[in-house]
Amino acid sequence: MPKEHSDIGLIGLAVMGQNLALNIADHGFQISVFNRTTAKTDAFVAANSDTPGGLVGAPTLEAFVASLAKPRKMIILVQAGRATDAVIDGLIPLLDQDDIIIDGGNALWTDTIRREKELKAKGLRFIGSGVSGGEEGARFGPSLMPGGEKGAWNELKPIWRAIAAKVDKVTGKPLEGAVAGKPVKGGVPCTTYIGENGAGHYVKMVHNGIEYGDMQMICEAYDLMKGLLGLKPKEMGEIFAEWNKGALDSFLVEITADILQQKDPASRKAFVDVVLDTAGQKGTGKWTSVNALDMGVAAPTIAESVFSRCLSAQKDERVAASKLLKGPKKKFKGSKKALIEAIHDALYCSKICSYAQGFQLMREAQKEYGWKLNFGQIAQIFRGGCIIRAAFLQKITEAYARDKKLANLLLDPYFNKTIQAAQEKWRKVVALAAEYGVPAPTFASSLAYYDGYRSARLPANLLQAQRDYFGAHTYERVDRPRGEFFHIDWPDKT
Ligand code: NAP
Ligand code: ATR
Repeated sequence: MPKEHSDIGLIGLAVMGQNLALNIADHGFQISVFNRTTAKTDAFVAANSDTPGGLVGAPTLEAFVASLAKPRKMIILVQAGRATDAVIDGLIPLLDQDDIIIDGGNALWTDTIRREKELKAKGLRFIGSGVSGGEEGARFGPSLMPGGEKGAWNELKPIWRAIAAKVDKVTGKPLEGAVAGKPVKGGVPCTTYIGENGAGHYVKMVHNGIEYGDMQMICEAYDLMKGLLGLKPKEMGEIFAEWNKGALDSFLVEITADILQQKDPASRKAFVDVVLDTAGQKGTGKWTSVNALDMGVAAPTIAESVFSRCLSAQKDERVAASKLLKGPKKKFKGSKKALIEAIHDALYCSKICSYAQGFQLMREAQKEYGWKLNFGQIAQIFRGGCIIRAAFLQKITEAYARDKKLANLLLDPYFNKTIQAAQEKWRKVVALAAEYGVPAPTFASSLAYYDGYRSARLPANLLQAQRDYFGAHTYERVDRPRGEFFHIDWPDKT
């Protein structure tokens, strides 16, 4: 027998909405669903009549709101931006004091801050929750990053903890094996309260920026093996599968191994060889990079991965340029085994730098927005469910457990030691990439970041002198306290 009122509601039955609704129903919660196009609601409810919690289809927004237990909780999973505002505007006149709206879309965190403020003024509560893990994650356990009013979070918590991905308490490894109607039992849920207003969506955005970096770094490893060693996709797939058993164990390396071993069903060629080399983007990597520039935080690896997608999109221009712009024509004659090992290490070291940049961004944002972010917990909830899930995140969790206030991941003893041991090979790979003309922007920029961050003295002394020369921008002196500014009349002939 269905309950008179559902425990929660969900608006937006596209890929994410349908899967999240089924996940919620699998955990015994009754969920009402609404979609702008009613035929989708009807088809979805009809196709899923036997979930443990039960689905209730609503033909109108009014019927949807009336079907929810008070204070009402409803998740919006529509296209981020205008569609989200349109849905919220439609809901406002139908809701009562203290009802809770949860936006699970990929919202820009500043939109979430604005929406939370506007809804609060109307007596409504708002949670902006990052949802990561794509279709599969939404269905069987996403990583959930909620931000907003703490009281509202406490009411949402039992549902969010139930549906989130679970990891092993000791090893941090994702617990797998969930099937429809039978979620995994036990484990630590990959969700935690992130912070006020837009904090959850901010962390989701940085997660996506890190994801851009991870994807690009893997592509560079592939390109180097292809360009320098002439390896075939299948062999590279086997190498990635091997790497997935060690320090690089991660979802993205695992699927890369599968992709490289996949044949195109139509041509029977290696699948990766028939895919056009132009990447699209919806913008979360760009948001992350723009925000890094706005806050003055160095995040070059993430930015390079966005620029790499931009350059990839200029296919016609690149094809024309390839006929005119010549590079080296050398053939690599070194050891294949040693180079593969070096590429592995370059990938791992670059990954450390990319994550260090992502966590530095979050550290700066918390100052800017007055959040209190718990970086150890953030690393913990990235361990399962999301696209960047990786054994490596356990190391980050451990680093923040050692030192909650760690200024930069590079300073943690584990990461420091790892880079010490691997940097020679990393440097070799970056040098080889330059020597042989294979673009490796994230490997190279990560190394420059590492070298820049560890430099007690950078050449900005000369830069500041240039600024003083042409614009009287003043300079500070090494022999005077910080904050005292000087200027000389250029060129000084005294
Ligand atoms: P989507 O393609 O982003 O959105 C389609 C849904 O939005 C449909 O239900 C559509 O209704 C509804 N919609 C669009 N404009 C609307 C409007 N003006 N008023 C009411 N409803 C409107 O779907 P999605 O891929 O499932 O993603 C949903 C959200 O989750 C997005 O914010 C996305 O960024 C985020 N997200 C997606 C993924 C992923 O892997 N796909 C992962 C994490 C987060 P109709 O059926 O009537 O057109
Ligand atoms: P998840 O939370 O599971 O990571 P997501 O945030 O919707 O899911 O996006 C998954 C990844 O696919 C992101 O890197 C996303 O990049 P955008 O932020 O630019 O969207 C990427 N992605 C989605 N659509 C894409 C497209 N058309 N081309 C290239 N990358 C795309």
